[in-house]
Amino acid sequence: MASRLLKGHRFLRWVNERLPLEKAYKTHMSEYYAPRNFNFWYYFGILSMVVLFIQFVSGIWLTMQYTPDAEHAFDSIEYIMRDVSAGWFIRYMHEVGASFFFIVVYLHIFRGLLYGSYKEPRELLWLIGVAIYIVLMMEGFLGYMLPWGNMSYWGAKVVLSLIGAIPYIGESLQVWIQGDYQVSGVTLSRFFALHVTLIPILLIGLVFLHIIALHQVGSNNPEGIEIKLVKNKDGVPLDGIPFHPYYTVHDLIPIVVFLILFFGVIFYYPDGGGYFLEPPNFLPADNLSTPEHIAPVWYYTPFYAMLRAISFDFLGISAKFWGLVVMSGAIGLVAFLPWLDRSPAKSMRYKGWASRIMLALFTISFVTLGVLGAHPSDWMPFWMAPFFTLIYFAYFLGMPFYTSLENSKPVPQRISSGR
Ligand code: HEM
Repeated sequence: MASRLLKGHRFLRWVNERLPLEKAYKTHMSEYYAPRNFNFWYYFGILSMVVLFIQFVSGIWLTMQYTPDAEHAFDSIEYIMRDVSAGWFIRYMHEVGASFFFIVVYLHIFRGLLYGSYKEPRELLWLIGVAIYIVLMMEGFLGYMLPWGNMSYWGAKVVLSLIGAIPYIGESLQVWIQGDYQVSGVTLSRFFALHVTLIPILLIGLVFLHIIALHQVGSNNPEGIEIKLVKNKDGVPLDGIPFHPYYTVHDLIPIVVFLILFFGVIFYYPDGGGYFLEPPNFLPADNLSTPEHIAPVWYYTPFYAMLRAISFDFLGISAKFWGLVVMSGAIGLVAFLPWLDRSPAKSMRYKGWASRIMLALFTISFVTLGVLGAHPSDWMPFWMAPFFTLIYFAYFLGMPFYTSLENSKPVPQRISSGR
């Protein structure tokens, strides 16, 4: 099709001689052979890209009216919400978009765990994914501070005080990052600069690398079978179908369903019941009035619960620092999955019972920690946060043992399910 289009179009032919248009189209679309058995879990990569686009565009529009200084930030958000035409819509798109970004990315990561998509030869693709996740968390944190509401202010104070808990260098590092001895307008301006320039550039660059790495090794699938191992005489995988037109058309359905849900939430439930937009953030930042209960937005709460799970000083260093170590370890361990999993099978369909039970326990612990982190620490019995933190870590640290000891089923060479 690309060649036909080029034949009839002088300008495109001219560009193609100078930029590899046709080659890129073939490599990434019409001759990129994707497994024919993609299922529901394979929707969330493209949906992450849709949300990235929404955040990018709505962010540019918000930047046109937002004022990044402590005097005017809160009022400029009110101005966007009340006076700018369709300002409320653009702001809610960006705010609901942040939560939806994490929903689709968490489901996207879960698919990786379910089908062993991190295993060889996709280790680098996975590592780039982990980098995206970390950068996304930074972007969310910086963005949350910008409305300069009371939760923005106190949330930033709590997170930045964690840096201050690092022995020896912590306090100076915290002052260096804040740009002041306390969270102030200086902090706000620099967080704004990072939120709208460096971090989005990093994010887009990493997503680009993510796709290039994916297309280099090829997609995994629910069976965890490498389709590149069985090809016809033309070198086309027997269990593959061209990404375009098959998956481009196929992906339109989840995109439409997603957009209906997304706009439904924007129109009827934009604060997500206080989870997407927390009540104290409807009040301006006030350093004399601490919100009754400081909690981060829902997508950070599992890690916040882990932070609070450590309540004792150790080796003369504060509990806060050890909480930070546990929290960072919890995120860092995800990067090591390709080397922790020793199972000969990729997909849960062929792994043994131990892997299945551990994935179920991991999911339960992550969700429970999320609920615990969203509530005050005395809301549930004291043992719960440490207990579920231990389960979370057991999933990773026990993996080399339970994946090599369990009985997995032999993986077939060809895909049997799917259309
Ligand atoms: C902005 C965020 C992200 C975007 C836009 C994105 C985009 C995509 C797309 C379009 C695909 C191919 C379609 C699919 O398999 O669903 C994909 C595959 C993949 N992504 Fe992501 N991704 C993101 C974040 C992540 C994260 C955080 C991880 C892991 C920590 C990750 C790991 C993977 C893996 C392992 C695959 C291959 C899966 C397979 O073939 O089974 N991605 N990604």
